[in-house]
Amino acid sequence: MISEAELKKLSFKGAPKVSGALPGPKTKEIWDQSWKYESPTRVGGTYLQFVWNEALGATVSDPDGNIFIDMTGGLGVNNCGHNHPKVVETVIKQAPKLMHTLDMVNPPRAALAKRLSEIMPPGLKDNSFTVFDTSGSGAVDTAVKYAKMITRRTEIIGFQGAYHGVYGHSLGLTVSPHYRVGYEPFVPNIHHLPYGYCYRCFIGAKYPDCGMACARYVDYVLNTPYTGITQPACVIVEPIQGEGGYCPPPAEFFPIVAEACKKAGALFIVDEIQAGFGRTGKMWAIEHWGGVEPDMIVWGKGVSEEIPLTGVTIKAEYQSKLEVGSQPATFPGNALACSIALKNIEIMTDQNDELMKRAEIVGEEIMDIFRKAQETSPVIGEVRGKGFMMCVELVKNKGTREPINPEKSFGLMISLMNKGVLNFVCGRYGNVFRFMPPLTTPKEYFETAANTFVNLVKEQEKDLMV
Ligand SMILES: Cc1ncc(COP(=O)(O)O)c(C=O)c1O
Repeated sequence: MISEAELKKLSFKGAPKVSGALPGPKTKEIWDQSWKYESPTRVGGTYLQFVWNEALGATVSDPDGNIFIDMTGGLGVNNCGHNHPKVVETVIKQAPKLMHTLDMVNPPRAALAKRLSEIMPPGLKDNSFTVFDTSGSGAVDTAVKYAKMITRRTEIIGFQGAYHGVYGHSLGLTVSPHYRVGYEPFVPNIHHLPYGYCYRCFIGAKYPDCGMACARYVDYVLNTPYTGITQPACVIVEPIQGEGGYCPPPAEFFPIVAEACKKAGALFIVDEIQAGFGRTGKMWAIEHWGGVEPDMIVWGKGVSEEIPLTGVTIKAEYQSKLEVGSQPATFPGNALACSIALKNIEIMTDQNDELMKRAEIVGEEIMDIFRKAQETSPVIGEVRGKGFMMCVELVKNKGTREPINPEKSFGLMISLMNKGVLNFVCGRYGNVFRFMPPLTTPKEYFETAANTFVNLVKEQEKDLMV
């Protein structure tokens, strides 16, 4: 396994290092310029006044020279770490040769499609083909469109708490009012069913006494007459809900849902955009639920990391059901992005580094820091996750589970930034602090970030309960 000394060389030394009040003067100037000339709809809104200047491994610097430990990991993008030297070397080699090829065949693209098939979970492994895209939203849209064409049906099943993107079908599947209000109407025939989020169970039951009511309800709706859904084309689901609050469902959830899809003749689509590509300790998060075979995997973020590239990898038997040339696009399958993706796969599967195994081991050790704090904290409601995809859900009251006020979450996020730790909250109530740094994060940095969070929660706990 890669040593801590080697990992430290991949990040800036001496993080975190913050001097003076944030934002510093150079950061402020660039921030103000961006707010004048850019759309206010972009990520992060107004609350986290941060400007990225340089990044390395698990660390980021701002224009004023402050260095931060990056617990956001690009929200699942920087799995191999910012600017990994092997990726930088790939860019230097490939860029002078070939980059753009107008969604047409190029050698790295053809090699990547083959390699993706090799690293897929059972069912798709060596039995799949890929369509490339340039954003996660686009890839989700493609997956659902293709499910419609393959099945010649129109109904789409998603989940409450889901995030799949912000355009077309993906926006219809995303449930946050923040992303929906004002953008109606949505693509028709999209239905949302309850997800396996046990801490906030839709019927207030307790696992396992619940009898897996959420998954059984999916089966009921898909496979019972008169439920209002007659012709389901697909069920699309995140293996661990990301924006919805980092919720890994119980062991029985996906086997029941996948079986329900099979019975109903609906395609089972797994959106691995945030949870996939090694982040949870396995190449694809759905592999934690053994025996489940997706018909499609939607991937993005971490696969090509530094340059946008996403896609859908689909069971081979459906290739002949798609109309040739029916979805042309300008940018997908860019030769540079595909070369980087091939390199990232090499890094992620390197038998000597064992980044995924390390994520499982170190992930548990860090979660133990949070679990220990939970024992005495009146506001740490739940600690959950897998590998380097973990979270702490904060509540005003552990008995009622009432979420902390979102304004307090933002305040805590800013306190963390002032201490040199970058973090983005998630969750249906904006009260879930997610920790998802690169898999190359030195343990010392991860521990520093976790302890900084725990200490701040302790310091602010009275205020958080109000
Ligand atoms: C599960 C999931 N699906 C889809 C998307 C959309 O990806 P993108 O932001 O690249 O459009 C995201 C983004 O966070 C995601 O987490």
